[in-house]
Amino acid sequence: MSLKITVIGTGYLGATHAAAMAELGFEVLALDVVKEKIEKLERGETPMYEPGLEDLLRRHVAGIEGSTGRLRFTQDWAEVGAFGDVHFVCVNTPQKHGEYACDMSYVESAIGSLAPHLTRPALVVGKSTVPVGSADRLAATIAGLAPAGAAAELAWNPEFLREGFAVDDTLHPDRIVVGVRSERAEKLLREVYATPVGEGSPFVVTDFPTAELVKTAANSFLATKISFINAMAEVCEAADGDVAKLAEAIGYDDRIGKKFLRAGIGFGGGCLPKDIRAFMARAGELGADQALTFLREIDSINMRQRGQMVELAREALGGGSFLGKRVAVLGATFKPDSDDVRDSPALNVAGQIHLQGGQVTVYDPKGMENARRVFPTLGYADSALEAVRGADVVLHLTEWREFRELDPVELGEVATTRLILDGRNALDPALWRAAGWTYRAMGRPTA
Ligand code: UDX
Repeated sequence: MSLKITVIGTGYLGATHAAAMAELGFEVLALDVVKEKIEKLERGETPMYEPGLEDLLRRHVAGIEGSTGRLRFTQDWAEVGAFGDVHFVCVNTPQKHGEYACDMSYVESAIGSLAPHLTRPALVVGKSTVPVGSADRLAATIAGLAPAGAAAELAWNPEFLREGFAVDDTLHPDRIVVGVRSERAEKLLREVYATPVGEGSPFVVTDFPTAELVKTAANSFLATKISFINAMAEVCEAADGDVAKLAEAIGYDDRIGKKFLRAGIGFGGGCLPKDIRAFMARAGELGADQALTFLREIDSINMRQRGQMVELAREALGGGSFLGKRVAVLGATFKPDSDDVRDSPALNVAGQIHLQGGQVTVYDPKGMENARRVFPTLGYADSALEAVRGADVVLHLTEWREFRELDPVELGEVATTRLILDGRNALDPALWRAAGWTYRAMGRPTA
């Protein structure tokens, strides 16, 4: 008989995982403590913009016409305990207020609520990004509370999905990592992931600490790549070199690779910044802080890019103050194909210029609502063209495809000054220059 799966926490990770498990053919019951979230999902709607996710939900959520009915929702822990063979814990682990460390309270409360209802053999699988050592502690919690005793155990299975590609990354992961303590746990997880493994996804079996560390190590490596190229951009800027060419040229070395070498205003979002900070905090607790001091530099190179973008804009506007200057900002989300503005470099730059007296008008294809909520005092326009109308300078800060497809000639007709600063090194300088624009980007020659 096919495994019954539950998913605890229906945020970004959980909603996607639950829908993907239903797509793989399993019966899925998902729980969230927030009623409104569940009500939305029951209608096949998602709380965030993620390409393909609503389609996937509608295909499986029970009660929606034409669906398989394999995905249901509940708020009842006893129902979850009675239903599941495998329970995925997908709650979030934000940065603690005023500290680098990660806030484990949601994970602890999820495990604490579930464990007393584990009355039959079950595998609890943590997917949240946690400080190394957490799984060991949570296993002890389960052992102490589960009525099923040793038949209820824990595994750790970090998630590597990217926003904007969440559905694809979940259905076709580039690797599956499982930290397990028994053959039975490994066997169950091989059963859950039989389809992607059959399609060629590598299945890596480790102990608990290694599984936890794989996630933070991967994110630290990605953050390091981005800050590395941004550091090179700073040097190129000083030496009049071209960081885009440099990235292309080093990227041909397949030990280095081309990806994640796009210089610009740096990384943001709900994962990379908080994950590298939590990793430093945890290494400190373990007495291994020296090993990760380089991440402090990665973080500070990254945060510096935002200030440098502001200075580039100031300089392009003649060097004085932003007072009375009209600044068009294209992009508010931390990356394209997402409506997420958490720790968004684009919104940060827009905010800094606004707070220094600039008249900032923002346009983003999907992030307007969230941006307005976080920064209600910025100006907002309904299209790129409207944002650019009357602008003294245009800042391209999130690399949406829509912005690459803009017509510089049409935009040039409405802008006060044809001055564009590309904070993502994603536009074609030749195209903009041919339409009479002055094009500037960090780490690239002026003409
Ligand atoms: C990241 C990891 O990629 C993912 O594996 C993990 O599970 C969660 O964290 P995500 O937060 O969706 O995913 O963002 P990602 O695609 O990694 O981009 C992060 C940031 O880096 C964005 O702000 C992006 O604009 C920036 N970036 C990316 C660059 O500045 N340059 C690059 O070359 C690539």
